[in-house]
Amino acid sequence: MPGENVTIRTYGRRKGHALSPRKQRLVDDLLPGLRLDLSSPAPEPLTEIFPAASEVWLEIGFGGGEHLAWQAEANPQVGIIGCEPFLNGVAKLLSEIETRKLGNVRIWDGDAREVLDWLGKSSVARVFVLFPDPWPKTRHHKRRLISVRTLEALARVMQPGAELRIASDIGDYVRASLEAVFAGDAFEWPAECPSDWRERPAGWPPTRYEQKALREGRKGHFLVFRRV
Ligand SMILES: C[S@@+](CC[C@H](N)C(=O)[O-])C[C@H]1O[C@@H](n2cnc3c(N)ncnc32)[C@H](O)[C@@H]1O
Repeated sequence: MPGENVTIRTYGRRKGHALSPRKQRLVDDLLPGLRLDLSSPAPEPLTEIFPAASEVWLEIGFGGGEHLAWQAEANPQVGIIGCEPFLNGVAKLLSEIETRKLGNVRIWDGDAREVLDWLGKSSVARVFVLFPDPWPKTRHHKRRLISVRTLEALARVMQPGAELRIASDIGDYVRASLEAVFAGDAFEWPAECPSDWRERPAGWPPTRYEQKALREGRKGHFLVFRRV
């Protein structure tokens, strides 16, 4: 059932400043055709929700969508599902979709965990969770998106060999994410030396949040896991 996995809220606000008339038009007119329909079962194969895709990737918490739009343009053979509950971020992505004429993006403007519950087993070939909300206060750690429960949900929907990319600029979040991954046996971490997580791999453009973190003196950590 969609929503079964959603208990504690992992995101902050859902709406910021008022949208420009163009972005409001995109939300009203473009978003409905791109939004996933979670009221019907996910099609099998999942690629059917795209006009022509050989595999499906998922980005959770795409923020303003800069990374997602880059991936969609660089990988036209891939269909990308983006999940983001912050409406202003969704509107930014819609703007990129229209400007760059991207035909390989679908959106869930809500909680990604609802999409994880909806997706079929082994249906996704790559997942991005880039700079999830850090929730630095100890009493808020339960709001962190990366948890044993989320990793179990990801393990179910990811194909064998699929890549899971997680980034964070918060050392404590990186440690907690590694612990959550190693609590199960669904993912392996092929990293061999510090440069494997200190340097952003090729085919991975910087996100808006990473650039902000860098300006504030915090460097990103880039974790690439493989579904066993
Ligand atoms: C710190 S921002 C990073 C945004 C973007 N990935 C970047 O690096 O610029 C984290 C984003 O995750 C989103 N988020 C948090 N919980 C989420 C959830 N359960 N499902 C989807 N998105 C979520 C937030 O709304 C926010 O936009």
